[in-house]
Amino acid sequence: MNTYQKELIKATIPILRESGEVLTNYFYARMFKAHPELRNMFNMGNQANGRQKSALANAVLAYAENIENPSVLISVLKGIGTKHRSLNIQPEQYKIVGTHLIASIGEVVGEAATQEILDAWTAAFYQLAEIMINLEKEMYQENKAKSGSWNGWRKFVIKKIIQESTEIKSFYLYPEDGKEITEYHAGQFISIQVFVPELDLLQPRQYSLSSAFNPEYYRISVKKETGIAPNPSGMVSNTLHSKSEGDVVSISSPAGIFHLEKDSKNPLVLISGGVGLTPMLSMLETNLNSIQNKKTIWIHGCRNESVHAFKNQIMEIKKDAGHLETFTFYDTVENDDETSNQIIQGRVDLHKCKDAILLEEAKFYICGPEMFIKAQYETLINLNVSEKNIFYEEFGPQLINLN
Ligand SMILES: Cc1cc2nc3c(=O)[nH]c(=O)nc-3n(C[C@H](O)[C@H](O)[C@H](O)COP(=O)(O)OP(=O)(O)OC[C@H]3O[C@@H](n4cnc5c(N)ncnc54)[C@H](O)[C@@H]3O)c2cc1C
Ligand code: HEM
Repeated sequence: MNTYQKELIKATIPILRESGEVLTNYFYARMFKAHPELRNMFNMGNQANGRQKSALANAVLAYAENIENPSVLISVLKGIGTKHRSLNIQPEQYKIVGTHLIASIGEVVGEAATQEILDAWTAAFYQLAEIMINLEKEMYQENKAKSGSWNGWRKFVIKKIIQESTEIKSFYLYPEDGKEITEYHAGQFISIQVFVPELDLLQPRQYSLSSAFNPEYYRISVKKETGIAPNPSGMVSNTLHSKSEGDVVSISSPAGIFHLEKDSKNPLVLISGGVGLTPMLSMLETNLNSIQNKKTIWIHGCRNESVHAFKNQIMEIKKDAGHLETFTFYDTVENDDETSNQIIQGRVDLHKCKDAILLEEAKFYICGPEMFIKAQYETLINLNVSEKNIFYEEFGPQLINLN
């Protein structure tokens, strides 16, 4: 890519930003028309609510903004790559995305998108695609080399389903082939693929592994997303909640960059909102079994006791293990007895437990909805926690970029 093309790219970023939403809507419609099979690969819920669309557009624009020094984006690209790897995205599909994206720029922007501008964007896209293809190639190779691991989809039988709260069920997934399964880092997720009858499509979704590694099975814990009119109910979570023991699903091998560092000795501060407690539970159990057995503070917030999954297990661990302290925030406290278990009425407010969490060298892990993550992150920064010690994961396309 030459200097003139880089200048053209920089000059046209504002135009693409302006037409970002129209452009990405147009691009997806164009691509799905030509390649309807890709609808089985993309999250149609995110397509409908607009979240994934902005993720791809933002990533391409972020790349364009850093065209002089794209290496600053490498950690972001690794995050995207790990998601792509878990969805079995293949190098040849970049050509499909590239063709439809560039054609869409031409068709949406119109005459202002001259041939030389389109050529410059084509060069930029394929430069980004090459970086991503190479990153993902390494990821596929490393993944394949791990004992018990696999690339793509593998069939698992749901052998046990447990109701953990009024809206969360755990699914115990055993490999149908009875062979070994690969170990994972606490905090990682798997992608699951199920057939959704109302779409007549296969649909993938990500779910964090919610227990410490067990060589027999993977456990995920899924919240049934009930739609509040006019929004429809969640497709895959409801499909999963209607499954029975013995049913078979396809999953990809564990992935993700939000996880505990295996041998670190730093204290842990886990901060979760709602179903965002699933990776934290895996971290808690893994830490409990490890020789480090690090000091752990877990702050959790949810609407009320009835939606608080795993609270009894966590209380049991707390009773037996001196290294765990918990703070639980309920929007509504219904039971007076709960006060003895450090239940605090209201939304999570880290100021209320700051003396407990401001531990030297602590690592802070946050998981929950976007606004929840932003609020906790901001409080931690205000409390002088270094951003390099804060890690977060959003249960959707990773749209927030705080550190
Ligand atoms: C890394 C990662 C880990 C995760 N871990 C977990 C976990 O451990 N447990 C868990 O329960 N979830 C987890 N999730 C979230 C999970 O992947 C799904 O996003 C979630 O289950 C919802 O999927 P769904 O198919 O039920 O909903 P979808 O059908 O995808 O809908 C999602 C939302 O979009 C709204 N929507 C759909 N269509 C429209 C429309 N036309 N207009 C407006 N709004 C619309 C729905 O009302 C719903 O609120 C995780 C996500 C990620 C990325
Ligand atoms: C340079 C090209 C690409 C860029 C910049 C890009 C960017 C992104 C981003 C930012 C995300 C969200 C990541 C996250 O959730 O954290 C994503 C997810 C995804 N990408 Fe890509 N991507 C590219 C190419 C592709 C290709 C070639 C395919 C396959 C056809 C693909 C399929 C997907 C799918 C299926 C998801 C998950 C969607 C969802 O869950 O809603 N991407 N990509």
